[in-house]
Parts: sequence; C-alpha cells; structure tokens
Amino acid sequence: MGKALDGVRILDFTHVQSGPTCTQLLAWFGADVIKVERAGAGDITREQLRDVPGADSLYFTMLNHNKRSVTIDTKNPEGKLVLEALIQKCDVLVENFAPGALDRMGFTWERIQELNPRMIVASVKGFGPGPYEDCKVYENVAQCVGGAASTTGFDDGPPVVTGAQIGDSGTGLHLALGIVTALYQRTMTGRGQKVLAAMQDGVLNLCRVKLRDQQRLERTGVMKEYPQYPNGTFGEAVPRAGNASGGGQPGWILKCKGWEHDPNAYIYFITQAPVWVKICNVIGREEWATHPDYATPDARLPRLKDIFAEVERWTMTKTKFEAMEILNEHDIPCGPILSMKEIAEDESLRKTGTVVEVDHPVRGKYLTVGNPIKLSDSPTDVKRSPLLGEHTDEVMAELGYSREQIDALRTAGAI
Ligand code: COA
Repeated sequence: MGKALDGVRILDFTHVQSGPTCTQLLAWFGADVIKVERAGAGDITREQLRDVPGADSLYFTMLNHNKRSVTIDTKNPEGKLVLEALIQKCDVLVENFAPGALDRMGFTWERIQELNPRMIVASVKGFGPGPYEDCKVYENVAQCVGGAASTTGFDDGPPVVTGAQIGDSGTGLHLALGIVTALYQRTMTGRGQKVLAAMQDGVLNLCRVKLRDQQRLERTGVMKEYPQYPNGTFGEAVPRAGNASGGGQPGWILKCKGWEHDPNAYIYFITQAPVWVKICNVIGREEWATHPDYATPDARLPRLKDIFAEVERWTMTKTKFEAMEILNEHDIPCGPILSMKEIAEDESLRKTGTVVEVDHPVRGKYLTVGNPIKLSDSPTDVKRSPLLGEHTDEVMAELGYSREQIDALRTAGAI
C-alpha cells in the first residue's frame, strides 16, 4: 500500500526534540527523510540520557524513526557542495538550529532559492520576530514564555511546567502542518516558501483558552469555575487553576482506593450537567438532583469544593478502574490517572500501534510512541532510527557521486 507523502524528499537538518518530532511524523506519512548530522558527532541527543553504554539513547531513537542518516560537515567547502546537491534534490528543508546558524553556514533563504526555487524551508525557532528573536530556547523556556507555566499549578504554589512536551513536540506538530500546507500550495504555485513555527507561538496556541479567560477576568473580575471562587481572590492575571476543568464542565482529580501508597490512585471526575442526576444516584446523594442548591450548574458553582469532597468519599471506596467502569455505565465523563508503567503495559495502545516495540541492532528491544495520527489509506510502519551515518554512501550514490568521489570526500572530512 502506498503512503500519503510518497515521493516527498525531506532534508532533515534538525536536532534535539522539536524538529525531529516534525520530520518523524512526515517520515511516518511516507516521506523520504534524510537526516543530515555533523560528521563524527551527530545529533547531540544520540548520547544524552544514555541508558545502554555505546548505544544511541532512547531520547534519540524515539524521535528519529523511519529516517536515513548521512553525516556531512556543512562548514567544510566540499561538504557544503554535498549539501547543495541535497538541496537541489529535496522538496523541504527542515531545521531548528539557533537563530542565524543556517545563514552563518552560507545557506540563506536567497541562496537556497537560487539552488531550488521549489524548496520549502521550514524552521522551528524559540520566538518569532521581535525583541527575543535571537534567543536560544528549550522546552521549559517555551512553556514559560507561552503562558503555560503561569497558568499551571496551584494557587498557593509557584508556576509549574507540564510533562507534556508542548514546547518541543507541540511546535514540531505545528511545523509539520505548515509543511504539508506549503507542499499543497506548491502544487498550484510551483514555488517554495518559508514556514516558521515559533515555540512561544505554539505554546500560546495551545493555551488559547487561558487568553480567553484573561479577557473574561478583565470584564467580570471573577471566573466562577476556578477554585478561587467563591472564597479566594482573583488578581489581574489568569490564576493557576489547580486541577479545575478548562471549560464549562467542572472537574477535579479525586482520590481512589489505594491512594495512600499509590501516587496514581486517582481519577479525573467531571460533573457534566446532562448527567447530574446520574452522578447524584451513583454517589448516593439522590436528594441533590432536585435540591435548589445543587440541581442547576449555576447553583453548584459556589459549592464545587463540597461537591467534589462528597464524590471523593465515593471514589475512595473504589479503585480507579472500578470507578471508571461504574461511571462509564452512566455516561459520566471521567478518566483514571494512568502511570507511564500502566501506559507501557496497556494492550489496547499496543493494538492500535500507539505504543510500539521496536528492535534496534545495538540497544535491542525498546518501546516507543508510534504515530498518534491514523490514516486509513496510509498506514504507519515504525522502523528503527538510523545509526550515525548509516546511509551516507547510499544517499551519496543517489546524488550521483562515484565510489572514488565518496572515498575522497571522506578522506577530506567532508562526509
Ligand atoms: N556540520 C557542521 N556544523 C554543523 C552541522 C554540520 N552537519 N550541523 C550543525 N552545525 C553547526 C551549526 O552551523 C551551528 O554552528 P554556529 O553556532 O557556528 O552557527 C551549530 O552546529 C549548531 O548550533 P545550535 O543550533 O546553536 O546548537 P546548540 O546546541 O548551541 O543550541 C538549541 C541548541 C536547541 C538551543 C538551538 O538550536 C535552538 O535554539 N534552536 C531553535 C529552537 C529549538 O528548536 N529549540 C528546541 C530544541 S528541542
């Protein structure tokens, strides 16, 4: 069966997490992704957080599936010529170097356009144009400057970053969408274009609801679904909302049986209005279904703390999975707090290919997250990440270099 991006060639000049997330997705959709790495060293993550001596780290292997690796010294004049040949042969160049690095290497937008006017040049940067555009940025910096940290955590504690890599992987996802959109536009214009996904912008896009709340706060001075209401105070900016639900369906994390010794024996419980009567019945507070203090969403808002305490008295008598099963029978939205151990062992995630076991010649078997986006006509086959420079000779031959030329370039340190 063919793949959605069959025939698309990507010059993958990415490293660390944000860029590799993007190109890995494109590879899973069928693009030929040629990862260009520094000769002799490679992507810095190959050796970061190593758990098996001498083997590429999980950090690297889990972000670089289905790619080919070539090593080129792009600061060496002969290496630059090899990169030029690749630029002429590829459809998209993806990079996430520090601002200006590509220009310093001699590959400005103008130069790339000269070499290949159809080339799409896609970049992740920390910030868009403005006072911080020259800054280097990592995941947690992006979470802080994109509004996530100031709105995450509890009211009485400091800002908190989330485990979801919304700055790196989130921006990689944004960039991938920009690239396929630009490829589509190119089918009509015949021209390439620049695609920029700034990490601050990507995080803010994911924090859209908090900018909504900022404006609600300025208009009304209070947000009734936040835990600060009715007893706490609101300041000038959107406060940290603890575990409150983002929208108009109040929710909270509640203890389940075993919480005293299991840090994840909790469930997320949503008091969705259409099933309020069922909630009352399940937790044994049937009278709340008609009581004026509880029967309507508005009446419940100032009493949410007490309501969740009462629901928790019920959830504490069940394991999180028992509670989930009972609540599901009544269509009450909820979700157990799953540990990474439970996710790794989850059979249904294995069946759908969201969690995949991959074999690697140096490190052996490991688990990875497969393609989270399923296309019915373009199935994903997760293949191990390449060894450093594994495909240098193969790609050089495809570019038209002879055996002797390849050997000479290698002796010159260009590849
Ligand atoms: N051959 C020769 N040199 C190469 C090369 C190759 N194949 N590939 C990269 N390089 C050089 C670059 O030219 C650059 O050199 P320069 O500084 O002399 O211009 C250098 O290697 C790469 O630099 P840089 O991107 O600055 O790496 P860093 O480790 O100092 O910084 C980041 C890492 C992530 C902070 C930075 O790349 C960045 O801010 N990227 C954009 C935002 C981003 O994606 N952040 C998230 C990362 S998950």
